[in-house]
Amino acid sequence: MSSEMNSDRAATTMAVPVSASVTEDKIADDDALPLIRLRGVTKQYGSGQAALMALKGVDIDIHAGEFVAIMGPSGSGKSTAMNIIGCLDTPSGGEYLFQGMHVEALTRDQRARLRRRYLGFVFQGFNLLARTSAQENVELPLLYRGESPANRHRLAAKALASVGLAGWEHHTPAELSGGQQQRVAIARAIVTEPAVLLADEPTGNLDSQRSREIMELLSRLNQEHGITIMMVTHEPDMALYAKRIVRFVDGLLDTDTINPHPVAISPADIPADTAAAAGGATCS
Ligand SMILES: Nc1ncnc2c1ncn2[C@@H]1O[C@H](COP(=O)(O)OP(=O)(O)OP(=O)(O)O)[C@@H](O)[C@H]1O
Ligand SMILES: [Mg+2]
Repeated sequence: MSSEMNSDRAATTMAVPVSASVTEDKIADDDALPLIRLRGVTKQYGSGQAALMALKGVDIDIHAGEFVAIMGPSGSGKSTAMNIIGCLDTPSGGEYLFQGMHVEALTRDQRARLRRRYLGFVFQGFNLLARTSAQENVELPLLYRGESPANRHRLAAKALASVGLAGWEHHTPAELSGGQQQRVAIARAIVTEPAVLLADEPTGNLDSQRSREIMELLSRLNQEHGITIMMVTHEPDMALYAKRIVRFVDGLLDTDTINPHPVAISPADIPADTAAAAGGATCS
């Protein structure tokens, strides 16, 4: 499934240029380009006396295949940076390049297309539709993309199986544990096979065992499916799953370090209950 997903993604990447000014070849071939580049990115909220500089000039390069943990004190700008990278918000100044393309120069529609095609989100609060089954929650991004009902059904079931939730398709969020709800949210984020998964405190609402399971799942998506991951966390234990740890302080990047020994994972780490429900299906 790994190579299938990767080749699917490569095909998608080449087939759907986000901006007419960017050629398909440029997106597909220029491996030297970082996937994400921020240069001098600022973000001001409010104006006049109420103005607050949430980001004061952030420079960072993220290459395809990286797994980056973002740490730092509350209010240091982590979510603001994630929202800009995820095209949920726009910078006040500076440059944001995605595969060499100037995102800050895109129209709102072009940014929305980039977001739908290349980016997946996972939030601390899961953000699932309450009275809607796991299957339908995961199908939602495919509905926006205009997929046929048969394709939506097939791809969502595959994504749920890949997070260890085969057999749970018809459960609503209230019928699922916190860890299972976050798995559904991850399935929803990856069902479109994004290049980048942006996770803002994905384990913030979970106990330590469930947190480790989610981190193992994210690590597997990174290592086996090649999805680039940027994850905000306040928990040093969770950051150690990442290959690189950056720290924000007061709207600026403070430190940027390689983690030489990310926490090791194995396919056997799929939790027993979901593995059984999935008939042994894993991400691999
Ligand atoms: N929509 C907004 N309007 C005004 N100010 C905002 C807005 N969003 C964030 N801020 C402010 O910008 C600063 C950075 O906020 P941000 O949410 O990026 O911090 P954070 O590092 O994610 O913090 P936490 O760890 O608590 O989630 C904070 O001072 C915050 O109050
Ligand atoms: Mg935040």
